[in-house]
Amino acid sequence: MFERKPVVDAAERFARSVLENDRTGHDWWHINRVVRMAERLAREEGADIFICTVAALLHDVADEKLNESKEGGLRKVRDWLAGQPISEDECRHIMEIISTMSYNAGANPPMATLEGKIVQDADRLDAIGAIAIGRTFLYAGWKGHPIHDPRLAPRDSMSPEEYRLGKSTAINHFHEKLLKLKDSINTSSAGRIAEERHRYMAHYVERFYREWDGEA
Ligand code: ADP
Ligand code: NI
Repeated sequence: MFERKPVVDAAERFARSVLENDRTGHDWWHINRVVRMAERLAREEGADIFICTVAALLHDVADEKLNESKEGGLRKVRDWLAGQPISEDECRHIMEIISTMSYNAGANPPMATLEGKIVQDADRLDAIGAIAIGRTFLYAGWKGHPIHDPRLAPRDSMSPEEYRLGKSTAINHFHEKLLKLKDSINTSSAGRIAEERHRYMAHYVERFYREWDGEA
């Protein structure tokens, strides 16, 4: 058996060095929250905590927004893992999770393993609730999108390109993605947390419109 702690510590240093200055809501503290949630869910669901932790630490290092291409981002992670004292199976499992877990406008197939389901749930839970509201306005500001524009209706369905590049608003993003996330949660442990966070966020959006219309 290989030693786990040095690998986890090294993955943390690697993720920090890549994401420390990110302004898109994928900063180090997002990673930190996803790791802690993934560990909690792994414990509750009886999954491999090491795999969940390392995959959660590295899940955004390969994000296409932060790399020249998805392949380039994945290569960066694969090269890094190749230098670590882990088994080939573990390396393959971690790479599989990272390469298939992103939202991609809902276009990706379901996660194949319990560990993948857990890391994806932990990432999605960070996009539902009070912190998610903050991240969404931060991201909209970074993109130059307004908080709301009543002339721009939320888009019903869109391709991954439209999702990534189209003109939108912070409030529309709640309808286009965030309020749909609770129905795509994999595990029952995460489902319970998602339900409660969802109610809070839905209430916020409703309240936003009431204030916008001068009714509250
Ligand atoms: P993932 O990394 O899970 O595939 P994204 O990178 O698309 O998801 O989004 C991460 C977070 O950034 C979202 O949960 C949301 O808070 C924010 N975000 C992403 N796209 C937008 C957008 N168009 N408008 C506002 N916020 C966004
Ligand atoms: Ni993430």
